[in-house]
This record gives sequence, C-alpha cells and structure tokens, in this order.
Amino acid sequence: MTRPILVTSALPYANGQPHFGHLVGAYLPADVFVRYHRMIGSDVLYICGTDDHGVANTLAAEKEGVPYREFVQRGWDVWNDVCGQLGISFDNFSQTCREVPHYALAQEFFLRCKKSGHIVRRDIEQLYSPKTNRFLADRYVVGECYVCGHDDARGDECPKCGSWLEANRLKNPRSRTDPEDKLELRAAWQFELDLKPFSEDPLVKPWLTEFRKGLKTNVSKFVFEKMIEGEGLESRPITRDLPWGVPVPNVDLDGQPIEDVDGKVLYVWFDAPIGYISSTMEWAERENKDWRRYWIRKDGEDGARLVHFIGKDNIAFHCIVFPSMLAWQQVDGDYSLTGPGKGEQYVLPENVPANEFFNLEGKKFSKSDQWTIDIGPFIEKYGVDRTRYYLIAAMPETSDSDFIWRDFKARNDKLANAFGNFASRILKFVAKHFDNRVPALGSETLDRVTNEVRTRTEAMARAIEEYRFRNALDEFLGLAEDGNQFLQDTQPWQLRKTDLAACGAALHQALQYLPALSALAQPFVPGLAASLRTQLNLAPRGAGPLLPSERLAEGHALGEASVLVAKIPDEVIASELEALRGTPED
Ligand code: MF3
Ligand code: ZN
Repeated sequence: MTRPILVTSALPYANGQPHFGHLVGAYLPADVFVRYHRMIGSDVLYICGTDDHGVANTLAAEKEGVPYREFVQRGWDVWNDVCGQLGISFDNFSQTCREVPHYALAQEFFLRCKKSGHIVRRDIEQLYSPKTNRFLADRYVVGECYVCGHDDARGDECPKCGSWLEANRLKNPRSRTDPEDKLELRAAWQFELDLKPFSEDPLVKPWLTEFRKGLKTNVSKFVFEKMIEGEGLESRPITRDLPWGVPVPNVDLDGQPIEDVDGKVLYVWFDAPIGYISSTMEWAERENKDWRRYWIRKDGEDGARLVHFIGKDNIAFHCIVFPSMLAWQQVDGDYSLTGPGKGEQYVLPENVPANEFFNLEGKKFSKSDQWTIDIGPFIEKYGVDRTRYYLIAAMPETSDSDFIWRDFKARNDKLANAFGNFASRILKFVAKHFDNRVPALGSETLDRVTNEVRTRTEAMARAIEEYRFRNALDEFLGLAEDGNQFLQDTQPWQLRKTDLAACGAALHQALQYLPALSALAQPFVPGLAASLRTQLNLAPRGAGPLLPSERLAEGHALGEASVLVAKIPDEVIASELEALRGTPED
C-alpha cells in the first residue's frame, strides 16, 4: 500500500502582505508537488491556514487600531484570495485563531510536553518598557543580532542570517514602536521548551539520521552544521505575556492547578505549526474523513509522508522545534486526549524543502519602497499559467534568485514557441489536410516518441520527488523541444507535396507528443494543460500512472486549435520597467 502524503505550506502571518517572494517560497512549489501527486493518483492532502497570533499581528493590529480578531480575519481574506488567484489548491485553509479545534489541541500539546518533562518553568530576565508598563517580546523589540551583527534584527529572528533570537540578548535593544522608550531588564518567568536532549532522544535520533539524507544542502547545512553541531540547542521560552494568543492552560493533565498563568499565552511559534494538525482536523470534520490517517502512526509502521514547504527563515522551527513537540507528546497513563494513544505517535517530517529568498531585479521586494509587483493585477494581465510558469522557472531553489522582467518575457516567449506553437502548428495542419482527424501510422512505429516521452516523464517524476521543480519544469519544456526536433527531422510539410501517406504517418507520431505534454504540463500550468486537452478533444485526465502515455488513435477527431501562449511584446516589458524604476524610492 502506498503511503498517504500530507503536504503543508508555511502558515502565512495574517498581517503579511503576500508578494511573489512568499508565493515562490512556500506555496507554488508545494502546489506543484500536490498537483503532481493528485495526477498520479496518490492519497495526498494539502493543508494551510493563516498564522494569527504573535507580535507580528498584534503590532500591526494595534497600529491600525483594529481589534485583533477582526484584523486577522481581513488577513485571511487577502491570503485566501491571492492563493486562489494563483491556483494554489489547498484542501483546507484555516486560521489559528479558531478556538475549535485549534486552541484545545495547542493546549494539549503544551500539557503533554510538560507531562513528558520537556517543558519547565524558569525565572528569566525580560525586556520591560517603563513607558507602557509591560514586558516587550519578539518583534516589539529590535536591535543588533548577536549571531551575525546585523543591526536591524527583530527580537525573535534575524532577517539576515536566519537565526532564531532571544530579544533580551540583542545588543542595543529598543522598542519597535517607540525608540525613545528606555527598555530595562526585569525579572519574569516563562515556561521553556528544553531542546537540549533533542538529537539524542530515542524517537528523534533514528528519524534524524534518515531525515538528514533527504534534505536539500541549504537546509541540512542550516540544521546540522549551524544549529545542532554548531551553536547547539538550548532551552527556549515558549510562553509570552500578551493579550492575544492561545491561553496557557491552568490545569495540568492530572487535574493539578498550574499557578499564575493568567495573562500568559503560548508563544506563536509553539501554537502555529500545530495549526497544520488542527487545519487537517477541520478538513476531516467537513469531509467526513480521518485526520489521524495523515498524522498518527502505529509503532513499527511508516505512517504518512509529511512534507513541509517553507521559506528559509522558518527552517529551525520545522526541522527542530516542531519535530521535538511532535515527538514529546508521549505520555503514560489514561488521559482522554486527542493525539496519539498507546502504541502510537505523531509522524515526523520526511522532508522540509525550504526555498531561499526571491528578489525583484536585484533588490528585496518592498511595498513601502514601491519596489514591488502587485500580484492581482499581474495575474489579471498575464494570466495565471504564464505567471506560474515563470515563477517556477525562476524559483530560488538552491540560492536566492530574482524576478527579472526581461527574463519573464524570454521564458514566456520560449514557452510560446516550443510548446504553444508546436501544438498549434500540428493541429492546424491536420485540420487543413487530414480532415482534423488523426492520420494513419501506416508501417511506421511509435518507438521514437514513446521513448522520448518515457525518458522525460521519468526524469520529471524523479525531479519532483527530489523537490527540484525547476528541473522538472525543464523536462516538460524538453519534451516539447523533442517534438519540435521530430518535426525538423521528418519534415511533414515537405512530405505533403510528395507522399501524403508518409506525411500522415509523421503527423500521427508528432501528435502523440501532445497528450503527454498535457500531462507533464498539469502540475505547473494546469490551465494550459486543460486547454490543450480540449484542443485534442480529450476528456479531463483521470488520476493514474503517467506511463504508458495516453495515445491518440487513428481516426480520432481533434478539437479546434487556438493560441495557447501569447508572446509578450518588448514595449510591454519596457513600460513595466519604467513603471518600476520611475516610482519614487526613499
Ligand atoms: N507565519 C510564519 C512566517 O510567515 C510561518 C509559520 S509556519 C508554522 O514566517 F509552522 F508555524 F505554521
Ligand atoms: Zn543575524
């Protein structure tokens, strides 16, 4: 039996303005992976939602003077729309502010980690704002990164080196909202998650060895060289004093009170990844399915394949913190709980294919500097498939990459030539000279096209399984190029004048590239894949293996050819660049 696959994309902060950088980082690659698996008939589920708690949201809501709940709801609407426009095909897109089932599950996670001895209460020092009479946490604080020296690090993470930081260790810490506020260190207490035993934990250790082997180098370097074998793992506060978040429970699993937790909430990075599970539960409830199939495995069984797609700034949380939380849910005793029971445990991720950062023409996307591209209008203008095609082709898979307007045109026009024109040339020719029906193959064979399709399909499958989506896309385009080469070699246009049967036989072969192309296109450019099938007069493809590839039989009546991909005129790109560069920068 093949294993179920659970795919997640990083839950976006509700306050974040979606830009292409997010989309190519965690959403588009996941969507390609999921669409591919749906196409071949895998049992795959794609889960996401907004990340509603934490200081990123409270700060932004307070700045606007909007109640937290209302503020994050607006964020959900924005993300839901943008992802919909780009064809990101979540099975469920939830919110971590939903009390059912999210709050209860997050509290259970806390209680089980505490019971299993991994969460401890600790006296610490915390930055305090005398002006506002409160402790400041995470992004309320900015200062110099104590790992790399970057002078604009946030209290929770450094945007430069990606380190997970603690606000009270920043150099020259200041309040984000009021730089004049003289912050002081004051005694406080929080619950901490002790990560020190992580890599030697009996559940974690064997998993970690396997996990390491499959990771992309950018990810494994960060997790192993920088964190586990470099800086080492420490104990980290996982509660905060904030008015918005999942309340720390005041009774433990054994019914004993937990003292003084009023006003304390779980740290956003503790509750957010649990959102993957609560979103799955919500989906299961709605669809009358079983969420445990994707999250719980029995001892000795493999369980589902869990794959987290994220941007590089989230690596520590997905490769270390969340796995530790999942592993440390083991408790003995008879409690009535939602998570794993006796002889069961949560699955741990099989892979965390994190992407690097995506910039615009050599500089960071920035809404405030107007160095940006508005996603909605862009998709309206160029269409979802051409947008997806370019973003996948330019994705920052192994190192940072850029959106480059001229490159957008070059790639688009190459797709128009190699793929769009290939299909329409053949279809128009067959319509004109063969009554729009697939001509006879005669004594020729399909060996060449069959071999090429097999090679490309296998290479694409391998690339997708290895999270090399740019290479996978190259195989799709490569098959179109194989088809063009076939026309070049067989010259049906010439043959028509001398040998109509030979011409028909060549077209019969050339036509066979098209159903295969529609399949290889499907994960990347689903709209184009569907249009091509319509032009071939084929019903939508059912889920199932890609090989042997579908064949167009002799005499099959084709549909009507039309332009699949239009080229982009030079002037359009020139005016886009002018609009970008002409806008004032500060
Ligand atoms: N909201 C975080 C960010 O945008 C990602 C959260 S991922 C999750 O950086 F695992 F916590 F859900
Ligand atoms: Zn840094």
